[in-house]
Amino acid sequence: AAAMIDDDKKAAAVAAVQEVRAGMLVGLGTGSTAAFAIRALGERVADGLAIRAVVTSDASGKLAREVGIDVLDFADIAAVDLTIDGADEIDSRCFAIKGAGGAMLREKIVAASSARMIVIADGSKQVERIGAVKLPVEVLPFALAYVMRVLTDMGAAPVIRDNYRTDQGNLVVDCHFATLEDPRATAATLSAIPGILGHGLFLDEVDAAYIATNGVVTRLER
Ligand code: A5P
Repeated sequence: AAAMIDDDKKAAAVAAVQEVRAGMLVGLGTGSTAAFAIRALGERVADGLAIRAVVTSDASGKLAREVGIDVLDFADIAAVDLTIDGADEIDSRCFAIKGAGGAMLREKIVAASSARMIVIADGSKQVERIGAVKLPVEVLPFALAYVMRVLTDMGAAPVIRDNYRTDQGNLVVDCHFATLEDPRATAATLSAIPGILGHGLFLDEVDAAYIATNGVVTRLER
């Protein structure tokens, strides 16, 4: 079953990478599905495709360079053409939950800067309504106890991710809401808590999704 899921991750990644055109500045996501996209893009670069990229994590930067992709420092980049990234859940509204890999803050910044953002996933990530998986938030270490109190008060059942720091050196707290009836309200509440630097609710960023199930790729447009 794991091998088939990998085949589906790869199929979705390869389909999405077909959208990359010469001259584009491409945003590269993080995680096992995004890694398939980075490898597929590396093959196109080896075949002569001229593109440049920015990355959402140190791990993706290392892989991208290994496969021959020219990686720029995102701090110098105001606008990205196309970003391809994975997700933990994606629904029919193109709402996504991201951050199981802990990279959601950089992922959201790169996605926000992108003219187009595509989620790639195997069929196990596709849901009718997001909300079953953990919702990760990135927390400034200084604010940890305060943020834990506020999250507990709002019913988020927060759990500090063990032995984990983000690429920025911050902590991740995984939340689990009993229901996520109003994701926009939850996103707004989380964004307004001082000490929370980012969260994994992607409600406006995703333009399309390529989802592969048993080798068949379907495309969802917002
Ligand atoms: C990384 O922080 C996440 O947002 C990933 O995009 C997400 O966890 C998907 O990862 P996989 O492709 O490994 O499932």
